[in-house]
Amino acid sequence: MELFTTRVSMQEHLCIEQKPDPASVVIFGGWGDLTKKKLLPSLFNLYKKKLLPEKFYAIGVLSYLDSPATDEDYRYRAFEVLGEGGDEEAFSEKLHYVPGRYDDPATYKALADKLSALDKANGEKPRHIFYLAVPPAFFPKIIKGLSAVGLTAKCPEGKTHCPIVVVEKPFGQDLASAKALASELRGLLDEDQIYRIDHYLGKETVQNILMLRFANAIFEPLWNNKYIEHIQITVSEDIGVGSRAGYYDKAGCLRDMFQNHMLQILSLITMEPPAVFEAERYRQEKFQLLKAIRPFDARGIEKWIVRGQYEAGEISGADVAGYLEEEGIDTRSNTETFVAMKVMVDNWRWAGVPFYLRSGKRMKERVSEVAVYFKRVPHSIFPMVPPEMLTQNLLVLNIQPLEGISLTLEAKRPGPKACLGALTLDFDYRTIFGVTPPEPYERLLLDAMLGDQSLFISTDGLEAAWMLLDPVLKNWVDGDGADLHRYEAGSWGPDAANELIKRDGFFWRTS
Ligand SMILES: NC(=O)c1ccc[n+]([C@@H]2O[C@H](COP(=O)([O-])OP(=O)(O)OC[C@H]3O[C@@H](n4cnc5c(N)ncnc54)[C@H](OP(=O)(O)O)[C@@H]3O)[C@@H](O)[C@H]2O)c1
Repeated sequence: MELFTTRVSMQEHLCIEQKPDPASVVIFGGWGDLTKKKLLPSLFNLYKKKLLPEKFYAIGVLSYLDSPATDEDYRYRAFEVLGEGGDEEAFSEKLHYVPGRYDDPATYKALADKLSALDKANGEKPRHIFYLAVPPAFFPKIIKGLSAVGLTAKCPEGKTHCPIVVVEKPFGQDLASAKALASELRGLLDEDQIYRIDHYLGKETVQNILMLRFANAIFEPLWNNKYIEHIQITVSEDIGVGSRAGYYDKAGCLRDMFQNHMLQILSLITMEPPAVFEAERYRQEKFQLLKAIRPFDARGIEKWIVRGQYEAGEISGADVAGYLEEEGIDTRSNTETFVAMKVMVDNWRWAGVPFYLRSGKRMKERVSEVAVYFKRVPHSIFPMVPPEMLTQNLLVLNIQPLEGISLTLEAKRPGPKACLGALTLDFDYRTIFGVTPPEPYERLLLDAMLGDQSLFISTDGLEAAWMLLDPVLKNWVDGDGADLHRYEAGSWGPDAANELIKRDGFFWRTS
């Protein structure tokens, strides 16, 4: 069947834009990989867009022996990672530095003194945001250090000045360790001071899921088991483990992708609308949805979940090594680099609709998308064309690399004959808006400055996700590894993943 493509444009827009109250950011791991790659460049972008508070400043806390000695040294280093823009010098003036080990009380005393001096010089009391860009084992130590010098105490003046702590994944290795870490954090901070980042939630197209669903009247009536046949969520990467071998071999795909990003996307697609877009209510709806996901039955788990590990293969014409040959990976590793699962959501809206989720490394292409397959027409009025020959309506939300939306419809082909063909209405962000969508960390840092927890993971939500996946991990650990399916690098995953969806009469979308 021939495929036609057309383009759409956006004419008017409404902006819900807030400039944060006075705020400052303290980054522990001030010269770590995340800080260099994401945090400093994102803060710089916010500065260029004039979205930072007027007297904003950031402090890098570093414990390296070869760390810079003064604010000027830190600024000089920061230059390397800020990228082009012309305002590097003015922005770097906002960067400061505190040296010290994370287990040394003197570090926190020095930080408290520095914050107090900067706030005094600026003549205002900003919200202090402590960003822990360090491995999670350091979280309790750092928060205890901050708490000991009164830096994480709830402020008496009210919400706008409350100090908050931003933490990065992984949030635990399993349910027990996630609960233990959460309870340690809750012993030191209130829930409204804990900001758990899932950077997927800062992506434009992920946020657009909510706009599409709840700012339009046409989708919501169809968004249920009456009209939707099944939904596929794919997050595939063509890269291997790269420099993250140490972390990845311990974590694996289920912890790295499903515990957070995949289940978060699923909950945005399936949650009920909150009455208002307010952090507490919105996070509560996502939590309710996670609780409605049918638990996996350990006995017949292979019918629901397939795990795989890549072998050597070819990607974009180049030979690539298998997982077990990668540097830093145990040659007997049973770690999964691919997971596909079928998920059922047991509530009125979604009863009977299967959701197929898959994610993996060294797959054919880098794609993140949600594909919503609508049910076919119940009856065809066109002679000789049975309903199954008519194109199935398909809504695809492209999260990356080409952020956008496409909707496939059946339409008449021009001409005297009655010819039908699939028509795809297709828009991508870059073409319509002429810009690359901003880095998710920009949005998330801005929200932290605004004290808006909507896009951050709540303790309830975190534990609900772990409750779902913990039995799967236990099953894998207790098993003999026989269910670890090999797949060739550059493919779409193991055959068993195709069987998983084929059993229900469907196929994975491949483009
Ligand atoms: N990098 C990414 O793209 C990425 C993506 C998603 C999530 N994350 C998460 O973000 C956090 C930071 O990641 P990262 O990649 O930036 O980490 P990293 O570069 O390995 O470490 C960040 C900083 O933590 C301190 N650190 C690390 N290991 C240490 C040790 N054994 N002893 C003492 N200090 C140590 C160091 O601080 P000093 O320099 O002060 O010594 C280091 O610069 C982690 O929780 C990670 O899981 C990172």
